Amino acid sequence: MTHAHITTWAIALILFLVVLALHKSGKAKGAKIVSMTLRLFYILIVATGILLLLEININGAYLWKALVGIVVIGLMEMITVRTRKAKSTTVFWVLFVLALVYVIYLGFSMSMGFKFF
Ligand code: HEM
Repeated sequence: MTHAHITTWAIALILFLVVLALHKSGKAKGAKIVSMTLRLFYILIVATGILLLLEININGAYLWKALVGIVVIGLMEMITVRTRKAKSTTVFWVLFVLALVYVIYLGFSMSMGFKFF
């Protein structure tokens, strides 16, 4: 089950970069379509995350991991929307990178699936 979860967030990260690249090259229509697809993947990340939560005895550590995951999704959305509106994204990028590294560390150090840390 963790494989499905990893697949969804890995695809979401790629789509996120594609949306930003499309905006940068002025392809607004393409960026809009890929943004919609990215939002579908947000739902899939949360759905696979919730399925994982249902497999275990939920404790604070898992809820914290889930919360940080949701924050990462929120930051991706903030960055794509603010890039479209040509607003500053610097603060959101810093928070995004920190939260992303942290949630991947948390996920891979917890009991289910891979345990790299
Ligand atoms: C972009 C956002 C997210 C990223 C990058 C992410 C990353 C990860 C990673 C790397 C793992 C470890 C997989 C493994 O060990 O095989 C994991 C596991 C997990 N994730 Fe996420 N996740 C995200 C969002 C979420 C959300 C939104 C939820 C809940 C609603 C969630 C719930 C879980 C749970 C319950 C696990 C199992 C923990 C364990 O390994 O014991 N994740 N996630």
